[in-house]
Amino acid sequence: MSYKRTLVTCALPYANGPVHIGHLAGVYVPADIYVRYKRMRGEDVLYVCGSDEHGVPITIKAREQGCSPQDIVDRYHKIIKDSFTGLGINFDIYSRTSSKVHEANASEFFRKLYDEGKFITRESEQFFDEQEQTFLADRYITGTCPRCGNPDAYGDQCEKCGATLSPEELINPKSKLSGGALVKKKTTHWYLPLDQYEGWLGRWILSEHKQWRSNVYGQCKSWIDGGLQPRAVSRDLDWGVPVPVEGAQGKVLYVWFDAPIGYISNTQELLPNSWKTWWKDSKTRLVHFIGKDNIVFHCIVFPAMLKAYGDYILPDNVPANEFLNLEGDKISTSRGWAVWAHEYLQDFPGKEDVLRYVLTANAPETKDNDFSWKDFQTRNNSELVAIFGNFVNRALVLTHKYFEGKVPAAGALEPMDKEALAEIPALRASLERNLEEFKFREALKDALGIARVGNKYISDAEPWKVAKTDLQRCATILNVSLQICADLAVAFEPFTPFSAQKLRGMLRVGLQAGFDHRKGEQTTENTFREGEGAALHTLPMGAAAAYEGLCLGWDDLGKESILPEGHVLGSPELLFEKIEDAPIDAQIARLEAIRKEREAAAALKAEPQKEECSFEDFEKMDIRTATVLEAERVPKTDKLLKLTIDTGIDRRVIVSGIAEYYAPEDMLGKQICILANLKPRVIRGIESKGMILMARQGDGKMRFITPQEVLVNGAQIG
Ligand code: MF3
Ligand code: ZN
Repeated sequence: MSYKRTLVTCALPYANGPVHIGHLAGVYVPADIYVRYKRMRGEDVLYVCGSDEHGVPITIKAREQGCSPQDIVDRYHKIIKDSFTGLGINFDIYSRTSSKVHEANASEFFRKLYDEGKFITRESEQFFDEQEQTFLADRYITGTCPRCGNPDAYGDQCEKCGATLSPEELINPKSKLSGGALVKKKTTHWYLPLDQYEGWLGRWILSEHKQWRSNVYGQCKSWIDGGLQPRAVSRDLDWGVPVPVEGAQGKVLYVWFDAPIGYISNTQELLPNSWKTWWKDSKTRLVHFIGKDNIVFHCIVFPAMLKAYGDYILPDNVPANEFLNLEGDKISTSRGWAVWAHEYLQDFPGKEDVLRYVLTANAPETKDNDFSWKDFQTRNNSELVAIFGNFVNRALVLTHKYFEGKVPAAGALEPMDKEALAEIPALRASLERNLEEFKFREALKDALGIARVGNKYISDAEPWKVAKTDLQRCATILNVSLQICADLAVAFEPFTPFSAQKLRGMLRVGLQAGFDHRKGEQTTENTFREGEGAALHTLPMGAAAAYEGLCLGWDDLGKESILPEGHVLGSPELLFEKIEDAPIDAQIARLEAIRKEREAAAALKAEPQKEECSFEDFEKMDIRTATVLEAERVPKTDKLLKLTIDTGIDRRVIVSGIAEYYAPEDMLGKQICILANLKPRVIRGIESKGMILMARQGDGKMRFITPQEVLVNGAQIG
């Protein structure tokens, strides 16, 4: 280990909405597992996050809701912060980019690069809304998509066909703010000339960081191979950190410039005297946990910024995850297709660990993955309850039944005992390797593997039967089982900390942890130290005195006789509870309702325009008014009506598929429009000559077309 400490950052979530399971699975749960694990190993870790409170989406939301951007970020900052705490994700600091410390720091960062001539300036033409007297971000511009004809495409993307657009490509671009037309106006911005860093980035990433995850490495490679362009670091906007330069009124730092600097600002806020140790000492190892949409910013742009500034360390690893889908569909905040952390905490109180567990088991580490409520229920019931919980419960209940709740003395071990115990060190080694390599899914399998070993062992050894004939043998089996329970209390601490703590309570053991130098006291979590030289003490958790000083640390995992003979256990409780169908069905029903609503809304949207036709094409069609004389259902069909009509030229029969929408009596005597010269067809044995013209809505609803006032039959339409 060539480093002395690890600085772990998690992507700063945008404070324009709550966090959902996609964020948790992609970034925060894996980071939390990693930090807890490293701390249990006695390493010095600082764990930094905060809200990302600038950027255009926040200003859009504020406008929509008729409040200020500050109101929006205040609201969501609190919701997000509480969600993290609720799930046991306890950062050393969770601050925000609207803080004073950050504004000063981000300004200073920009100013230094500016003073040293590290930026270039460029003039460009941007869309300007004259009514609102403001330049417009791409998201504020709407118009018709040139690809699919969707009239509500955005200046950066068409949500209907998925095309990536620029505002220039939109047909008939309009301002989303005023609804008015736009003019083009010149504006000047500062750019970080990434092209100048291309050679260095290529060496630093492509040769020196080959060990990065292949998705991360691959994305960086394709950016670098494609050639890097200068990137604007300022925007015309009134929400953000003002550009600290004369004559830059109405300009702020681009959110992707200021947000990553937020990692540094938040560290400064927490450790005003020693933050540089974490950011400027080469013995610090920096790890960014992010989602895949953030890769370019963390692997290319931010490192280039840090390099341009000088003195800063650069990320050692960036374990970015792919995306998590929900019930087969992409998670979408705007459509409400998500499971929100704060709602989960309300709907499933006491089940924080179940979510952490399921999100880790399904973590989208190498490819996009899916979360489904049925899988959530199954993993709880057949893994946490049936394997982990069941094993622990049997071991504890039987110890209370036969040995007054004291760890019984083990006699000579039989081969099956030795075999079970021998599996633990191998699982521990694999668990450690996987955690070090950011393979959290695999690591969780190792941890559950320990529970499987225990559960299988106790099932095979059947201490409840053995007790009737050989109490000494029963004592040995339970002793071995309880040692495995203690292993689980250690191994699961990074993954399911609430349950691990509950289990330690049942076993009456503490947890080795560190010393909180902020508070000057020992602590069980979130340990960090300010400054060098202060030793990371490993001390029992607060309650350990009550446990006769017995406490576990990572190195106990797989050791023999962790729990001494005669150690008094606490009373057994259920570690996990079965989840019944009702709460799961309620969640599925909520999502189904959203899906239906969305489908209905999509159906009502106008279909895109058909391919162009010539006037001659149109002229070929003989469209006329006609009147329905007789109407009857076509027997044995649900959809067909047989209509006899007066076309002005003749009396004829047309078979039409409108019975779902009109009863025969609704049609009688009605004037309609027909395509008269459609080639006759035989439908259900009836010759149909022509077609009734119908207006059809996306959801299938149809209405026939009638002239505004009654005309003669056979009047030509065109
Ligand atoms: N807010 C961004 C997102 O949610 C992440 C910002 S990460 C930071 O995608 F580095 F910029 F802070
Ligand atoms: Zn489109």
